[in-house]
Order: sequence, then structure tokens, then C-alpha cells
Amino acid sequence: MKSLPVLLLCMAVCSAYPLDGVSTNQDSSMDLVQQYLENYYNLEKDVRQFVRRKDSGPVVKKIREMQKFLGLKVTGKLDSDTMEMMHKPRCGVPDVAHFSTFPGMPKWRKSPLTYRIVNYTLDLPSTAVDAAIDRALKVWEEVTPLTFSRVYEGDADIMITFAVRDHGDFTPFDGPGNVLAHAFPPGQGIYGDAHFDDDEQWTKDTSGTNLFLVAAHELGHSLGLYHSANPEALMYPIYKSFADLEQFHLSADDVNGIQSLYGPPPTSPEDRLVPTESVPPPPGNPATCDPALSFDAVSTLRGEMLFFKDRHFWRKHLRVLEPEFHLISSFWPSLPSDIDAAYEVTSKDTVFIFKGNRFWAIRGNEVQAGYPRGIETLGFPSTVRKIDAAVWHKDKRMTYFFVDDKYWRFDEKKQSMEPGLPKKIADDFPGIDSKIDAVFEAFGFFYFFSGSTQLQYDPNAMKVTHVLKSNSWLNC
Ligand SMILES: *[C@@H]1O[C@H](CO)[C@@H](O)[C@H](O)[C@H]1NC(C)=O
Ligand SMILES: [Zn+2]
Ligand SMILES: [Zn+2]
Repeated sequence: MKSLPVLLLCMAVCSAYPLDGVSTNQDSSMDLVQQYLENYYNLEKDVRQFVRRKDSGPVVKKIREMQKFLGLKVTGKLDSDTMEMMHKPRCGVPDVAHFSTFPGMPKWRKSPLTYRIVNYTLDLPSTAVDAAIDRALKVWEEVTPLTFSRVYEGDADIMITFAVRDHGDFTPFDGPGNVLAHAFPPGQGIYGDAHFDDDEQWTKDTSGTNLFLVAAHELGHSLGLYHSANPEALMYPIYKSFADLEQFHLSADDVNGIQSLYGPPPTSPEDRLVPTESVPPPPGNPATCDPALSFDAVSTLRGEMLFFKDRHFWRKHLRVLEPEFHLISSFWPSLPSDIDAAYEVTSKDTVFIFKGNRFWAIRGNEVQAGYPRGIETLGFPSTVRKIDAAVWHKDKRMTYFFVDDKYWRFDEKKQSMEPGLPKKIADDFPGIDSKIDAVFEAFGFFYFFSGSTQLQYDPNAMKVTHVLKSNSWLNC
């Protein structure tokens, strides 16, 4: 049986699981090691308890992997060089790649690419931000056939933002130091975008965190490069400043990486534009991009999205373009197929799965003991035979259950159904008036699925903000 990896940047969620014992300095550096290896080397959350026993297998293996990747002496021990490295400011994208591109080698198939500086840090005048981004783009323009064109409104291929902490993409920033920025590989929507942690002190020179250097690195991700283990490379994950910024140049490793995707720059200016149409449909499961595709249930799980259909589910991580397609039973042998509804309570690291009048609780790939339970234990009357869809509203800490044309609301903290319900869905969710198959929450929106249609709904504005195809998350 395969196991689900932990989410890549789980600082917020992991902190919900206190380790036993009091917190001492020793403990907090162990927490740092644990988080570093979880965040950047895909250490499984389950091996948490072993981190204290320094000779334990999985953690030592990850320490060795980290030392090798970052060019340290490979000892498998938390020596001072290793601890020092873990404290250095770095990029928030993990180091687990074996190649210098993302899985599936996503790349842009058009030129010029558009970019937009959506907002600014207050650390620098906006002209200095513009200049740093412009110079960072030129770094890549010089060694490829790509060109960039700036837009000032609407959507762009590469959206550049400054944000702090939680900023709507499942990967919150961490305050000053450590993670400086992150970016997504080429693709639509959030893909290609670059986010900068505005809790850093951004500077033109190297007195703080140099914006040009970090932007050049992040834009490398936006164009399809992953991390390089070569300490000379711009795509090395650890931030390093240069004594003389004018001396900055790409390493041969960076040039080889980007040219493996786009080739070298053309010799004459006429050849510079290489427009080809949109990205071709991906290979893989043919049913995935069927325009008539509908889902039984949709949920998040530790930062990924799960789309359930019959005996199968698609598993989609925002950082990976291609969804995975699996049998439900290959992850959770005791779960039924054809489920009705699913929702995640991230504060409990638990996904609840509903079928008929029963429900299960899962954590990672484990079905919890004591389940299935009857839905009447949640406070449903016996007239409710099944749930159509369910979603946990993080801000309100309430779960909404949708049953035919009515909804119920469950207080996860009090563990009780709210009085005065059910109510009509159409009254309190204007625009949601057809039968709901599934719903999940992302980026502050509810996404309602009804047949092959998906409605993006803003719960604060109480209106439908977008109409999408149901399979729009699956790279179709
Ligand atoms: C910039 O925009 C992003 C995305 O809309 C938002 O999360 C962030 O808070 C904004 N930052 C600033 C400094 O306004
Ligand atoms: Zn990076
Ligand atoms: Zn982000």
C-alpha cells in the first residue's frame, strides 16, 4: 500500500501536534530539524517520533540526503555545519528533485510571456522593485528564446506578489528569515506565479535580502527549473549574496538546465518569437479530461486535492501539473467506493468520508479506529439517508452539509448540529440552485460541483464568482 506524503510546507498544521515533553532548546532545534526535513526532503510525518533517537533510520537517511544535496560532508549526523545550514535563509520550494526540472517537465509553449507585478513591498520604492524584476527576467531572456511582456492589469502568465504568512495557496510564509519566497512551475492559474515573503527586509543591495537575486531564482522556477545541488548555481536552494552584484552571472548548470527546456537564444532577432498555441492535452487517463466528467465527492487532504469518482480518485498537488489517478482501495482498503461526500478538518488533520448513513475518519492513509459511525451521531434525523456534499469552513470552524435542496451546519468544536437548521440552500447561497454533487474550500472560496459544472462561490460576498468545468483542476 502506498502512503500519502506529508504536505510540503506544513509548519502551520504540524504545530497542531505537540510533541510530548516540555519544550527546551534541544526540543526546539529538534523541531527545526523535523520541519526542515519534512518541508524540503519529504520526511514522512509518521517518523516524527524517531527524530529524537538520533540513530534512527528514516531521519538519518534524510539528513544524509540533505547533506549530499547541499554539498555538505555526508555524515548522517546533526553536526554544526548541518545545523548552520538549516538556519540559513532559503527558497521555500523543496529539494527532493533528482533532475533540474519539475516532474513532467512543464514548460511554456508561447512567447512572449506576460508578467504582472500585482503589488509591492514597502521596503523599496516601486521603481526599485520594477528594476529588480526586470533585471531578473533579463537573466533568463539572455540565454533562451523567451521574451517577456509586462501587463498592468488582469491575468498574466507570471503574477508577482508580496505577501506575509497565509496568502491563499496552502503554503504560508514563515515570518522573517528561513523561507524567503516560492514560485510555481509553468501552467495556468497559480502556475508560473512567484510569491515573495514580505516579512523579509528587501533591499537593492545586499544589506538585507537582495530582491534581484531571489527574483532571478524564483523566476527560474516559474520557467520550469527545479533546484540544483550545485552550490555555484542560481538554482541552489540556499540564499547567498554576492560581494559584487554586478558580477552576477548564471552558472553553466543553470544555463544547461534552462536550455534543456527552451534551447539557446536565436542568433538573429527575427527568430526570437516562437509562438505555438496552447499546451497540448496531457497523456494519461483519457477520462480525466472528458468534458462531461462529474465527481462523487471532493476534499482537500494535507494540502492536496482529492476528487472521488466511483472506485477511483484523482490526487492533485498544486505544485505538480499532472494529477495522479488511483483506486480508493489502494490507499484505504476498508473504504467503500461510490462515496457521497468528503471534507477535511485541517485543525484535526482528519478527512471525513460519507456513504449512505455512515461515515469514516481518515488521517493520511489510515482509517481511524471506531469508524464507520452512523450519521445520526452527528445530529441528523433518521429521515436523512445520505449526504450529497460537505465542506468545512475554516474561518467559521463550521461544517456545512448539503442534503437535497437544504443545508445543515455542524459546529466541529462543540460537536453539535446548529439549531434552527436545515435551511434552503438557494436562500443562503444565492446562485447555488442545482443539485450539489460535491464541494470543497480553497483560497477562501467554496467550489460547488454539479454534474460537469463547477461554481466558484465567495462565501463573504455571497455570490458565484466563476463558472468552471468540473475537471478544471486536473490540468485539462
Ligand atoms: C498582494 O496580493 C496578494 C494576493 O492577492 C495578497 O495575498 C497580499 O496580501 C498582497 N500584499 C500586499 C503587500 O498588499
Ligand atoms: Zn527555489
Ligand atoms: Zn505563495
